[in-house]
Amino acid sequence: MLVEKNVPLQPFNTFHIVARAHALARITSEADVRALLADPEWTNEPKFVLGGGSNVVLTGDVKPLVLKVDIGGRRLVDETAKAYIVEAGAGEVWHDFVAWTLQQGWPGLENLALIPGTVGAAPVQNIGAYGVELQDRFESLDAIDLQTGQVFTLNAAQCAFGYRDSVFKHGGTVTSGGQQTLGLKDRVVILRVRFALPKPWKPVLGYADIDKKMAEHQCTQPTPQQLFDWVCAIRRAKLPDPAVVGNAGSFFKNPTVTPEQCADIIARDPKVVHYYLDDGRIKLAAGWLIDSCGWKGKTVGQAGVYEKQALVLVNRGAGTDGLGATGGEVMTLAKAIQTSVYERFGILLEPEPVVL
Ligand code: EPU
Repeated sequence: MLVEKNVPLQPFNTFHIVARAHALARITSEADVRALLADPEWTNEPKFVLGGGSNVVLTGDVKPLVLKVDIGGRRLVDETAKAYIVEAGAGEVWHDFVAWTLQQGWPGLENLALIPGTVGAAPVQNIGAYGVELQDRFESLDAIDLQTGQVFTLNAAQCAFGYRDSVFKHGGTVTSGGQQTLGLKDRVVILRVRFALPKPWKPVLGYADIDKKMAEHQCTQPTPQQLFDWVCAIRRAKLPDPAVVGNAGSFFKNPTVTPEQCADIIARDPKVVHYYLDDGRIKLAAGWLIDSCGWKGKTVGQAGVYEKQALVLVNRGAGTDGLGATGGEVMTLAKAIQTSVYERFGILLEPEPVVL
């Protein structure tokens, strides 16, 4: 397998930030990983796993060996009374996979349409949208250990899924369901992911933007395809297309607070958008917090806050004139936003993407 040196990473990150990998290996199979581990030049080299590059901010050239995962393949592995079990290679484009499952007559992923990135990256941050998270449709995944070359399977509990979180985002140890497990950040390559698409299919509704579409179309029983089309339309109207405007989706997580903290914030601004969670805590809309601090449409260097969704930071330069925003500019803007939201509301926003 070929390891390329000094590779431009601009095409491999959806922010379109200009940076280079000292070395990059394209992984198309399990055998490629084993070959790499057996090669004395790369055995002990630190490694960074890159999927669709839709959730990273590159703040400079990448020194660890970049593993660009291009493992393809998708198939039905089983059909039980309760679900279709469908598997996809980690390098498959997420949205294409979602569209394909619908075409095959196996709905269940339609609320997650048009999320940028790959199938292998989806469990890493437990992608979610419009009332469905990856963990709700997850069956298991196969991964290969970057130290031993051993392939192993993880179920949902072992992945320690949380809100935009999993065992793959942490080094050290991770506590999940009272159990301590070893964090798997940069330790494994996810090879294949299996999904359980429930039978019979039931639409997941109740999200404000979807309810609006239902009212608009005077529809009470949407089909999977209708939901898919609406989700695509909602996202296209609100979120920038990374092919046109560089971005990494939501830049911060929606924070959760106690009822007391929420009461304090409501006293500062009664319009704060908030949702009650089952565990008694309250989720705040980070986009609203940022918006109400006046950030929408603002620019620092060539990094900006998207005009239609303040939670999304964009690269205003790439593809037009010259080099576009640097990772440093994006992070300077992110820090300025964090400071002003903290000063006004006492909330420290947590970035969602991996900063490298
Ligand atoms: N809002 C504002 N101003 C803004 C942005 C949002 O007032 O500039 C308000 C909206 O009006 C709405 C509320 O904040 O009342 C929430 O906004 P929205 O429905 O757009 O959802 P979000 O909480 O900002 C989350 C996810 C998105 C996901 C949508 C839909 C996170 C961090 N983001 O966004 O995920 O698509 O819900 O489910 O949880 C991503 O993770 O990259 C992503 C795009």
